[in-house]
Amino acid sequence: MQSINELWQRYTAFKAMDLSMNMSRGVPSPEQLTLSQEMLVNLATANDCRTDGIDCRSYGLLTGIPAAKRLFSEMLCVNSDNIIIGGNSSLNMMFDAISRAWCFGILGSTPWGRLSEVKFLCPVPGYDRHFAICELFGIKMINVDMTPEGPDMNRVEELVSSDPAIKGIWCVPKYSNPDGTTYSDETVRRFARLKPAAPDFRIFWDDAYCMHDLYEEGDKLLDLQSECEKAGNPDIAYIFGSTSKISFPGSGVAAFASSERNIRDAERIISKQTIGPDKLNQLRHVRFYRDINGVKAHMRAHAALIRPKFEAAIEVLRREFADCPEAANWTEPRGGYFISLNTADGCAGRAFDLAAEAGVKLTNVGATFPYRRDPRDRNIRIAPTYPSVDEVRTAIELLSVCIKIAYCEKNC
Ligand SMILES: Cc1ncc(COP(=O)(O)O)c(C=O)c1O
Repeated sequence: MQSINELWQRYTAFKAMDLSMNMSRGVPSPEQLTLSQEMLVNLATANDCRTDGIDCRSYGLLTGIPAAKRLFSEMLCVNSDNIIIGGNSSLNMMFDAISRAWCFGILGSTPWGRLSEVKFLCPVPGYDRHFAICELFGIKMINVDMTPEGPDMNRVEELVSSDPAIKGIWCVPKYSNPDGTTYSDETVRRFARLKPAAPDFRIFWDDAYCMHDLYEEGDKLLDLQSECEKAGNPDIAYIFGSTSKISFPGSGVAAFASSERNIRDAERIISKQTIGPDKLNQLRHVRFYRDINGVKAHMRAHAALIRPKFEAAIEVLRREFADCPEAANWTEPRGGYFISLNTADGCAGRAFDLAAEAGVKLTNVGATFPYRRDPRDRNIRIAPTYPSVDEVRTAIELLSVCIKIAYCEKNC
């Protein structure tokens, strides 16, 4: 490794560049958003707004238009009868699923809000907004380590089968946020075969990145719902997805899929919550993508834009840490939105602060853990999609220097 003096010199040179970059969240670049621009003009006439004999300009169809159900059934590998197409946000649907369980229970169970304790398992590192929902409800979060195959299933099985207060687990099964890990077939099967102590335990299967391959040959995720049915556990999974990072974040379409019983249970409550979702937006999406092949072609165009950014980040990391592998390791995902980097223990916070001081804002350290506490102060989530390739290179080079300084201060 370079000496600390050389590292400080490099750091000072970065500071003189007066950088101002925000890599804190995984958002598409403007070029990616433009790929879906034409969607906004495909409902120009009254006739355009009709589908399957329905006028989407009016009330009706609580659970969404059939054409959107068909599209999501292919994307999420679920039966199109057992899908609710919602509004613009899958996170909103996850929040609502917890709210329903909290107020009304699931399939006749005691409402979670009346129990003395409710716990969720949280594979770590994970998605901060999942953890924020739990924190808001006062749900106690238990960390479970991620492995290259998915969450540590020995631990998941042990905890879920022994503690009836454990009501759920958060999963991002394909290209997980932030590791980019796709759960192995064996992991999915073990999820399907879980024997929870709580009959109203649910797997919150957030398939946000189901279509987000960076390479032609994408990772393959086993279809959880069919595995659950095979295992005699049809009601254990809640599956979520959206087009937020396919079309427009904030203006996409979200979906919730599960067993028929779970969907009818949810529908009963949702029918009191709303007269129906935004069907025009659903129709805009269906008209634009047509079917799963349309989505796949669209995602290849996304990949062409963002793959070079992932590759640039990884190339810089490999070069910077070639002579000091003890200072950092990282994932090299084949899809999704993030690279997850682990510094040596106790260095992430310091590296984050140094990068911020030099003008590069990263995801807050600790955000990828429940209660914002990374017990080893080592995980940094890199979100390379928004900046340009050159900006990614600069930011990752600076970050590498910051990590090495933090490492030297502690260990050299
Ligand atoms: C794992 C995961 N789930 C859900 C979301 C948000 O999805 P939506 O926009 O559909 O609420 C994100 C956004 O970053 C995400 O990373």
